[in-house]
Amino acid sequence: MIMESNDKDELERLRIHYLGKSGQLAQISKEIRDPEVGRVFNEAKIAIEQALSLNTKHQSLDIDMSLPGKLPPIGHLHPVTNAIEEISGIFEKIGFTRARYPEVDWDYYAFEALNMPKTHPARDDWETFFVDAPENKKLGKLVLTPHTSNGQIHEMEETLPPIRMINIGKCYRRQSDVSHTVMFHQFEGLVIDEGINITHLKGTIDHFVKQFFGKERKSRLRPYHFQFTEPSFEVDVTCDICLGKGCKLCKEGWLELGGAGMVHPNVLKAGKVDTTKYTGFAFGWGVERTYMMKSGVKIDDLRLLYSNDIRFLNQF
Ligand code: DAH
Repeated sequence: MIMESNDKDELERLRIHYLGKSGQLAQISKEIRDPEVGRVFNEAKIAIEQALSLNTKHQSLDIDMSLPGKLPPIGHLHPVTNAIEEISGIFEKIGFTRARYPEVDWDYYAFEALNMPKTHPARDDWETFFVDAPENKKLGKLVLTPHTSNGQIHEMEETLPPIRMINIGKCYRRQSDVSHTVMFHQFEGLVIDEGINITHLKGTIDHFVKQFFGKERKSRLRPYHFQFTEPSFEVDVTCDICLGKGCKLCKEGWLELGGAGMVHPNVLKAGKVDTTKYTGFAFGWGVERTYMMKSGVKIDDLRLLYSNDIRFLNQF
């Protein structure tokens, strides 16, 4: 009856009849003793209220068909997805091919083939999650990849030189604070060809830094140690605030981007690359960290990126 009526006065009469202070429902409710009956009564009351309000709304809608419609809120890509697209675009333009390799992989690819034999102390630097699964006799345990460097070996197994790979993937480490999340992304570059040397590495890094961060930012290689590269470096970029002069935020003018180096001959051998003919360079940096060092991006807690808080994400 309520839904069918299209008379405002009648609807108001019905409302008073059922829901009014001395209406039918008020009368009935006085007599209810049994809780079960009370529950059914409440459901009925809610149904009547809803029917009345729905119909009343319809009656009072004054629709102007010439008005433009309301757009539903439109989302956008996550800042990390955008960063991944921008980074791979920069490398693809200079001849790198985007690759993707397993994010759950064997110990052999994550460590052993990267010149870190079992029990090697350097493994401790990667706080690795092991998967509770049967071990492979040859390849060892299954791990959640703690870095994207496993992609280097896969790429060498699948592709003959010349190689120009950019592998972007998820990594996992047992860590969580303002600058670390348990899951994060890295991008791993690998170039193998005849006559590749450090100048090619530096040139590639400079190109990336200018494209991604802007012409005013500079990069430098700082000697370091990794098992899978020799020589090894850490790559720094000038701070976006002081541009290298030194300020409160960066202290010395430089911010650390990530690791790089000339691929260690043992790694090339593990990938069955002829070391008398080919040399190569590699680098591996965190996507989130790299993105946060872009001028104007001010995120003081990296975990915010994965908090799914729409107020935060809407800023990008
Ligand atoms: N895999 C290293 C890490 O996660 C980073 C890295 C250093 C990658 C040197 C490389 C490299 O390819 O050459 O800390």
